[in-house]
Amino acid sequence: MKLSRRTVVKGGLAAAAQFMVGCSVTGFTESTRPLLGFKPVPFSAGTGPMPAISEDYEYEVVIPWGTPLQPDGPEYQYPPSAEDQALQVGIGHDGMAFFPTGVDEGMLAINHEYGRNSHILGKLTPTSLADVRTSQHAHGAGVVKIAKVNGSWQRVASDHARRFHGNSEATFSGPVAGTEWLKNGADNTPRGTVSNCSNGQTPWNTYLTCEENFNLYFGANGAFEPNPSQQRYGLKAQSWFGWYLFDSRFDLSNPEFENESNRFGWVVEIDPFDANQIPVKRTALGRLKHEGAAQTVGQDGRVVVYMGDDQRFEHIYKFVSSGNWKEMRSRGVSPLDEGVLYVARFDEGGSGEWLPLTIDNPKLKDKFSDQADILVNVRLAATELGATPMDRPEWTTVASNGDVYCTLTNNSERTTPNAANPQAPNPHGHIIRWRDSDNHIGTSFSWDIFLLSDDHYDEEHTFASPDGLWADPDGRLFVMTDGGQRDKHNNQLLVSDTNTGEIRRLLTGVAGCEVTGISATPDRRTLFVNVQHPGNGDPALSNFPHSPDQTTIPRDCTLALRRKDGGIVGS
Ligand code: FEO
Ligand code: CA
Ligand code: CA
Repeated sequence: MKLSRRTVVKGGLAAAAQFMVGCSVTGFTESTRPLLGFKPVPFSAGTGPMPAISEDYEYEVVIPWGTPLQPDGPEYQYPPSAEDQALQVGIGHDGMAFFPTGVDEGMLAINHEYGRNSHILGKLTPTSLADVRTSQHAHGAGVVKIAKVNGSWQRVASDHARRFHGNSEATFSGPVAGTEWLKNGADNTPRGTVSNCSNGQTPWNTYLTCEENFNLYFGANGAFEPNPSQQRYGLKAQSWFGWYLFDSRFDLSNPEFENESNRFGWVVEIDPFDANQIPVKRTALGRLKHEGAAQTVGQDGRVVVYMGDDQRFEHIYKFVSSGNWKEMRSRGVSPLDEGVLYVARFDEGGSGEWLPLTIDNPKLKDKFSDQADILVNVRLAATELGATPMDRPEWTTVASNGDVYCTLTNNSERTTPNAANPQAPNPHGHIIRWRDSDNHIGTSFSWDIFLLSDDHYDEEHTFASPDGLWADPDGRLFVMTDGGQRDKHNNQLLVSDTNTGEIRRLLTGVAGCEVTGISATPDRRTLFVNVQHPGNGDPALSNFPHSPDQTTIPRDCTLALRRKDGGIVGS
């Protein structure tokens, strides 16, 4: 079924937003002026091994995979050793956040979601523990300092630069910390962060990295029968990365590590200004395939975090801290440790309800032993509450007028539509939008569908599988795509004017890549976006960021985009 936007049930929110256009209380300071002034990249330019960018813009390449964290660190070599890789920028650049330390300089905290074995190791399956270590060290996240030197962005030295990877230290806090759910027999020291997809940023200047497809790192060398929760999280005897073949920590059949998989699927907090801080897995935010953690401050100074769980028919969540974040921190309590986790139910007619995932909820208290049980198995708890099964929730972002946007990237398996996911199947995805009551902290909301990709599929600005998302302070919505573009077009970065619905293409990536991750400098004169897995690691498709006449393994990298006239990015 293909629905036009006009046929989709709309809530009162869009009308309310329309009413407020140009009004200062929206925070859309530039909303009376056209938001999109750049010349779009034509659809016809969007294939091949090199990016295409609007003629009003230029880009440069920063921190490709393997860049040493420090100027005197080990230089990139292919394939990397495990030792070198732990001291270099990882692969699979994804969500990121720029933390300024001055004008045109700052710490870039960045996720390294994944790299195929064929890309990292040059083989399909690891054949030694050393291979597994190399792969583990290429995954995770990192903090590196970048600065504009002689007009050009580059990595510079910093005492804060460091890497987090499949074997680095981690710790737990919140309701699940210290419980049986996280205990192992052989090695009880928490280690590792994997499949770090999108991200968040807190008002107290820390970085949130979100663990997504953690199941793909686990497998079983012996007999393994998944329990219902393990089934729901996709844990299987065979997996993509094959770490379990040589690292017993990832072997689901090893009784010494029976709870290891419970240690992944969390939002992890990193301090980009303290190299000695051990990353903290914030269990109050639930264990799921976290796409991102879009944060805002709501009524009473409470911190609110919106989160998608990226799998077909999974859900959208939000966390609300128990109190004012400043007051909590002054008591020595993390605002991410105490609060209520909710899951969304989208109702017909444009209304919705946030359902509390708490042990005192009558629908949960007889089915779960305690709050830790709910948080570790939160997908099962969400189903008990009647949460709406969505079409793969990816990134969320909070606009300055209070609207929240979430990409629903696609769902080829949907056979039964619901109000919020009206296409069955949904091959090209859509973007949903809602506004919560009580300035983000209330339990009711109004919603509408901001756009259906299929409504634009035949147009010049065609796109599919929206994924990365950022609402800027003026009312622009930056949308990045992941896969399945029309006519094998490369993935792309588009900008939408949320007041008018106009969409323009700012950048197309390279063959085989995903365009993902987005962060701007405070003056919004530089925009960072990532080219993830260029050529899918195959130099025959793309060897970006090397020049096309070289035969070189492609390297994931960050692009620093700017308007040639020095204007606001996206304009
Ligand atoms: Fe890592 Fe759902 O994208
Ligand atoms: Ca994504
Ligand atoms: Ca995706």
